[in-house]
Amino acid sequence: MSPVEQIKERLSITDVVSSYLKLDRAGVNLKARCPFHNERTPSFFVSPTRGSFHCFGCGKGGDVFSFIQEIEGVDFRKALEILSERAGVELKGIDPRERSELASLRALLEEATKFFEKNLQVNTQALEYLRRRGLKDETIKDFRLGYAPESWDILMKHMSSKNFSDVLIERAGLAVCGERGFYDRFRGRIMFPITDGQGKVIGFSGRVFSAEGGPASGGPQSTNLSKYINTPETVLYNKSKILYGYDRAKKFLAQNARAVLVEGQMDLILAHQAGTQDAVATSGTALTEDHLHIIRRFADKLILAFDADAAGFSAGERGMILALGLGLDVRLVEIPEGLDPADWVLSDAGAWRSALEKALPVVEFMFQRLVREHPDRRDLSRALSKKVLPLIGSINNKIEQAHFIKMISEKTDLPEEPIRREVERLASQNVSDKTALPVVENADLDLRENVHRLLLGFFLWYDKSNLKDIDAPAVRKEFKKITGQDVKDFLKSMTESARQDLEFQAEMYYSADSHLPMHIKELLSTLERSILEEKFTRLLSELKSAESTNNVLSAQSILKECQDLSCRLEELKALRTAA
Ligand code: UTP
Ligand code: MN
Repeated sequence: MSPVEQIKERLSITDVVSSYLKLDRAGVNLKARCPFHNERTPSFFVSPTRGSFHCFGCGKGGDVFSFIQEIEGVDFRKALEILSERAGVELKGIDPRERSELASLRALLEEATKFFEKNLQVNTQALEYLRRRGLKDETIKDFRLGYAPESWDILMKHMSSKNFSDVLIERAGLAVCGERGFYDRFRGRIMFPITDGQGKVIGFSGRVFSAEGGPASGGPQSTNLSKYINTPETVLYNKSKILYGYDRAKKFLAQNARAVLVEGQMDLILAHQAGTQDAVATSGTALTEDHLHIIRRFADKLILAFDADAAGFSAGERGMILALGLGLDVRLVEIPEGLDPADWVLSDAGAWRSALEKALPVVEFMFQRLVREHPDRRDLSRALSKKVLPLIGSINNKIEQAHFIKMISEKTDLPEEPIRREVERLASQNVSDKTALPVVENADLDLRENVHRLLLGFFLWYDKSNLKDIDAPAVRKEFKKITGQDVKDFLKSMTESARQDLEFQAEMYYSADSHLPMHIKELLSTLERSILEEKFTRLLSELKSAESTNNVLSAQSILKECQDLSCRLEELKALRTAA
């Protein structure tokens, strides 16, 4: 039997998927909200008997391997590695040297983690310090916190006694090579193991803590007094791709459709301890596009919970712009002056959680902040151009841009037109940054196509279903109004086998659905919204060319059409939030 077959035999699709998503029963199958596209009602199905999954919303489907490839964003090779490890199946075919180096590095890091854990348990001061910071003993254990004693070689010695070579210790990022040989990188520090998506240790972050000098000193004769130092880049650890806490959070990210981003390890651990399990952290680096791609696989909303100091914000600005450009709904939490999430969660977990719920979209947050800071109107408009319009410009959805432009115009009494022009100018400056934009646009098109298919499938299936709770002719009429297509004509134009396929999918999709009428309504409104948004975007560019050729009459009529469209879109949006 090949490794692939062995893995499939040992791991059920249900087990693999449910380590990422909460699955609910749906007849013989299981379903969940799809992790690969944004949706509120589950259209992601898992079939245990067939060992496969399929999403009727975005069309993604396959077996355990394709699932891991999609959700971890890895290639087949890597998915095979992840699953073979999980299934305990040995892989042949990887270069044995490469495999043994990676395996040795992992074994070394695991050994070091245990060593640090033991040392923490015998260091009462460090342990007391962590307890004082609000960590429960079980949390300390769970996150595997440790202590690196104040010594130049205690870890080196320990590792040698376990037969790890100096060079390997250095490759793992735990030793530094100096003039007189190798010495321990982490000395007199509380150790936070950093794990990969599977929970395996790949690096560390160490916070200063010396037994004699307390939390301020950095080890014997140490010149490096940075509060935190981290493992440098190694073959296993790439800080721009790793989110601290991701292995624990991933299950909750998809479930809650949101990610809470904090800055520090302490913030993260205390947030998780207080039940905010969808929190992740960057450790010692700015938010990168790689981080955001990971987040976007699970969640469409990103809540930033940064320290209240101004530095926190300007450091986060590029991350926010990237995130908006990737289509994330970016929100900011107002953290009380002088606190960071770690302190706040401890002093008032309830307030913290409700602040997350009430977090404002970043544009509104920044706007309100600037209004408070700039009583002078000219100062304000300058500050807005500098801080808020670039954010609006990077949102990759014209309707949302229009919404915020209108909001700013209303609240400042500035006319919409110059704001819009400025936003466009800023957005065009950004264009070169946004490599990910076309992907997102395609995703929207796929979504529309799928909704379209689902509705056609509904008509085919419903006629034979013996159900009576939906007025199918009315739905047909609505469908025609929205798409301009007659369902019957359309279905006739399909081949028989395509129709059967559609009907089969519809049966699987709808037969376990206890809210069918509501879901059909939602599908219709999603379809309408998607069509109208596209039309809106087209009209905006027509408007621009009418204006540039001074065609006043045509510009006026296009503008009128835009307004009508945007009214209808607001209506649809309101329906969606009310439902
Ligand atoms: P902070 O300075 O806000 O630390 O840096 P903190 O989280 O409040 O730390 P405690 O509570 O005093 O222990 C936030 C994050 O930035 C990174 C670390 O990941 C830290 O958690 N950082 C900070 C570094 O990488 N190096 C530093 O010297 C300081
Ligand atoms: Mn802090």
